Amino acid sequence: MALPGSTLITRIGELVTNDDGWTAITGAALVIEDGTVAWTGPAAQAPAADSVVDAGGRAVLPGFVDSHAHLVFGGERSAEFAARMAGRPYQAGGILTTVAATRAASDDVLRANLRRLVAEMLGQGTTTFECKSGYGLTVADEARGLALAAEVTPEVTYLGAHVVPPEFAGDVSGYVDLVRGPMLEACAPHSRWIDVFCEEGAFGADEAAAVLAAGRARGLGPRIHANQLGPGPGIRVAAEAGAASADHCTYLTDQDLDTIVSAPLVATLLPGAEFGTRHSYPDARRLLDAGAAVALATDCNPGSSFTSSMAFCIALAVRDMRMTTQEAVWAATAGGARALRRTDVGHLGVGARADLILLDAPSHAYLAYRPGVPLIAGVWQVGRLVAGSSR
Ligand code: NIG
Ligand code: FE
Repeated sequence: MALPGSTLITRIGELVTNDDGWTAITGAALVIEDGTVAWTGPAAQAPAADSVVDAGGRAVLPGFVDSHAHLVFGGERSAEFAARMAGRPYQAGGILTTVAATRAASDDVLRANLRRLVAEMLGQGTTTFECKSGYGLTVADEARGLALAAEVTPEVTYLGAHVVPPEFAGDVSGYVDLVRGPMLEACAPHSRWIDVFCEEGAFGADEAAAVLAAGRARGLGPRIHANQLGPGPGIRVAAEAGAASADHCTYLTDQDLDTIVSAPLVATLLPGAEFGTRHSYPDARRLLDAGAAVALATDCNPGSSFTSSMAFCIALAVRDMRMTTQEAVWAATAGGARALRRTDVGHLGVGARADLILLDAPSHAYLAYRPGVPLIAGVWQVGRLVAGSSR
């Protein structure tokens, strides 16, 4: 019997469902009904539906979940990138260049830039994404960035503690008081999460802990930028704050590793940042072998990682971080969902939101095997084709 308003995608070469850890079915079909996955299984046993999409042997994957992105900003920093590639080191202070450009930009300019990036992400298969503030650093500019972010995603993160702005130079504690006081009051209504950049040159352990505790008391979920540029206390701070995820994790001690596994924290790896800053990649194999849950995300921002491509991150993770193709695709889908504490996305089990990608390739491995090639044929979000085509 045909399901009303249902769509059957059949002749799927490889259907990645991530039902329980990595799961893939060959020769599969999937039925979408009311924006959710209603059925998956062998194509020969598929029920009838109102409309049929012939995948013709191509792969279908859950939409990517990009759990770490900084999309509200003005200006760009290509000259800084070029100088870095010519040998200059990356410094957290570059963030202030974008802070000045963001403060100077109108709402319309920021919104247009944000929406262009969101469309770019969707066309590349990202159906859920997180978006941080962090380039305003005044009460009004942070609140405005978060209100814009909330127009495009529910996964909005308040990052007032990105760096200390120039008007608070030499007065870190004064700025931290603003971030956990009046700025938090103005920003919390737009946000689900609170983040802090815990790093030499940004915020130390006590400051980071104070910011996350204040956010938590105001109902926000903690997350952290930690151990990106060197070792530091961020993993411990994240665990003590009950954070969902610790992001970057480029420099980890054995103690950090134990903390990640036992807390547990999702370790969100951002290889675009190592690519863009010429740092060494994080040791994903060490995390996975210790039993940690790993997510991959773009860290899309104009300074350290100006990519919106999850496929690029998967390719880097496979080639340079010793992740298998299965581990990398799981991390870019189910891993990202776990980092955002979402159970409705990142997998294609029955009842999941019907966010999915039709690849122009027979298997997920092509995302790393054919790096830099646009392989996303079609993208469905909540059961609707939103980019590409179903043919
Ligand atoms: O995640 N680490 C802190 N923030 C960003 C970089 C932001 C920038 O350079 O503008 C990151 O890499
Ligand atoms: Fe970041």
